[in-house]
Amino acid sequence: MPTPRPLLWHCAPHTRAKHELLRRYLEAWFPILLQGPRARECVTYVEGFAGPGIYEAGEPGSPIVALQVFLRQRRLLDAGKKTNVVLIEERADRLQRLQKEINDATAPYGNVPDGMRIEYRNDRCADALLSALHAVGAMKTPIFAFLDSWGGPDIPLDVARAIASAPSSEVLVTFGTRFLMQFGKAEAHQASGDQAFGGPSWRKVWDLPSSKKKSFLVSTYRESLKAAGFRYVLSFEMLGDGGHDLHLVYGTTNPLGLQKMKEAMWKVDPIRGVNYRDPRDPDQLSLELSFDPDTGPLRRAILEELSKGERTLAQLRDFTLLETVYRPPQATIVVKDLLGRGLVEREPARGQLSSDKVIRLAPKKPPETEPLF
Ligand SMILES: C[S@@+](CC[C@H](N)C(=O)[O-])C[C@H]1O[C@@H](n2cnc3c(N)ncnc32)[C@H](O)[C@@H]1O
Repeated sequence: MPTPRPLLWHCAPHTRAKHELLRRYLEAWFPILLQGPRARECVTYVEGFAGPGIYEAGEPGSPIVALQVFLRQRRLLDAGKKTNVVLIEERADRLQRLQKEINDATAPYGNVPDGMRIEYRNDRCADALLSALHAVGAMKTPIFAFLDSWGGPDIPLDVARAIASAPSSEVLVTFGTRFLMQFGKAEAHQASGDQAFGGPSWRKVWDLPSSKKKSFLVSTYRESLKAAGFRYVLSFEMLGDGGHDLHLVYGTTNPLGLQKMKEAMWKVDPIRGVNYRDPRDPDQLSLELSFDPDTGPLRRAILEELSKGERTLAQLRDFTLLETVYRPPQATIVVKDLLGRGLVEREPARGQLSSDKVIRLAPKKPPETEPLF
């Protein structure tokens, strides 16, 4: 993505969709972690590329979106729970503006609640993020790290690895492939690519045909985040005006987090031409997240999974959650459809289609031959 020089810039449709996703996800994340049977005393929200907190036409920046979620649920803070908010921005003018925007946003709530600590750093994310987290004692708390750079390889994998070592922690990374494809052969950029991926595996991109480069880089980055300690990694491409190459890669150590991120993603209204694409769908269909979404890519993914052997419906639902952009209930709908078309069969053949039912590919019928007489 081109990097704007002015203090503020235009809020593109894909940015609005990203903020909507963030808001919806944090609305689930914040109360789940701070109340309920396994509630924590403190959580930490950190942004490594915080921005000025406002866009050209007055739309709120991501730190304000997050803060408003926390402030709307301030009863949790008033009940003694604690939240750290750590905001890092390398440009002093943007950080200064962010502080003003945060002050304005907290004023209607009677300023920053006692349980909330906001820490600002005018620094580079790679240099400051971990020390800032240590300074607020965040490494013993669940951390949600939004690492929303312009999409270059700006986040050393060691930073992600350290975040993964904190309990129930998560990252949401903006990942673009264009920079590495254009400039990655320069020595300095190769070094930062190696740092971001935790090694040189990504450099195989040069040996691939153009059509395979993008999905290779995204899937290699997914594997890097897994190796860094995020057991569940979800990635999707947001398609906005002008076909920006903008992937969001979410890593978590917690399956409930993955489920909530999927739910948030499917609830984001398709905003003027912004939709998602599953980077591993070979047909690269983009998804309007509508009431009646196109489940063609999921149908293909489930058939491919079944070509490796039979699976229970529960296994197919897990596969859908962990390996595709779809949600488990959509797996059940697709399996019913495949049963109806005779492409798969189930065992036992009758009764309710519950999670323990075994699903397998139906044997291929021999081609119908013309009767001789
Ligand atoms: C894509 S914008 C972030 C926008 C913000 N997250 C939002 O959604 O409102 C990236 C921001 O990171 C800042 N930035 C760029 N490189 C940085 C770095 N290495 N460390 C910290 N901040 C950086 C830029 O000045 C810019 O404000």
